[in-house]
Amino acid sequence: MCFSFFKTNKSIAIDLGTANTLIYSKKHKKIILNEPSVVAIEKDTKRVLAVGNEAREMLGKTPDDIKAVKPLSEGVIADYDITEAMIKHFITKVFGKYHFFLPEIIICVPIDVTDVEKRAVLEAAINAGAKTAYLIEEGRAAALGAGLDISAPEGNMIIDIGGGSTDVAILSLGSTVVSKTIRTAGSNFDNDIMKYVRRTHSLLIGERMAEDIKIKIGSAIPLDEEETLIIKGRDLIMGLPKPVTISSEEVREAMMESLMQIVECVKWVLEQAPPELASDIVDNGIVMTGGGSLIRNFPKMISTYTSLPVRLADAPLESVVRGAGMALDLLDKLKKIDKAVR
Ligand SMILES: Nc1ncnc2c1ncn2[C@@H]1O[C@H](COP(=O)(O)OP(=O)(O)OP(=O)(O)O)[C@@H](O)[C@H]1O
Ligand SMILES: [Mg+2]
Repeated sequence: MCFSFFKTNKSIAIDLGTANTLIYSKKHKKIILNEPSVVAIEKDTKRVLAVGNEAREMLGKTPDDIKAVKPLSEGVIADYDITEAMIKHFITKVFGKYHFFLPEIIICVPIDVTDVEKRAVLEAAINAGAKTAYLIEEGRAAALGAGLDISAPEGNMIIDIGGGSTDVAILSLGSTVVSKTIRTAGSNFDNDIMKYVRRTHSLLIGERMAEDIKIKIGSAIPLDEEETLIIKGRDLIMGLPKPVTISSEEVREAMMESLMQIVECVKWVLEQAPPELASDIVDNGIVMTGGGSLIRNFPKMISTYTSLPVRLADAPLESVVRGAGMALDLLDKLKKIDKAVR
């Protein structure tokens, strides 16, 4: 009795994202950690120097012997050891160094991860201190967190655009009926902007500046009033720092190919939908979530290309972890949950 109290009370949900890691606590009923998925390590010894916010500050600014890395790439684990160190660090930050009752952890993974990748995530959670670890597909978690009733016998469609991957899924009766994951998402837009600025303005800018440009003046279809932004980088010809003015039209043009890849993915999933579920989606519309969906007018763009109603979830950066937190109460109801026990 006492044991089960602690077991459930200490349960947490982790959205192990390419860009951000979030932890939801069942006990506190809220998100207790939200930090970038970045780790700073000493190159020679591989010693972890900083994790999360502190490590992000070092991105692109580290001296030669320190490396700031994103251990997840395109939504999957690119560096297993560093991912495990990051999970351990965050769990210790949340529970303290000497946690006696190891938590039950549910972690989100993209829909199309391989069995090997699934085992890697489960093992990382167990090695990081979990007693039992579960996996839930990001799409399912995102749909739950966005308030969709995925257990109902009707079709619901979710688009989760993260930093490294876009998951598009149609769900019904608690299961994913049709889905597709593509590796085009938020960080692709940043790369597109970096390349564009280099090509057309002969200016070298860093990842963080590119992300800033995207967030400040990025849009998927024309804005009522187009905007401009002064950006700073290194002039490719003179080699010196230089400011340049860039317009929202240019940023849109830079991102267009990636935006269209996401549109094509959405259309593909719709085309695979069984007719009954397709007709539900005409009524229910599509819900967009994930940080990448915050690009202005993106829902409008998807709506234009699909002729369906599209809305943005309430807190797009939090839907996945909130949904995973809700899934902790539904473990027996959700079909096909991968699990590992210490
Ligand atoms: N206001 C905004 N406008 C445009 N993009 C944004 C905005 N806010 C955040 N983003 C982008 O959202 C992305 C991060 O979203 P999110 O936290 O959902 O990703 P993630 O879950 O870490 O990644 P993934 O699900 O692919 O593993 C980043 O690329 C970030 O630049
Ligand atoms: Mg995500």
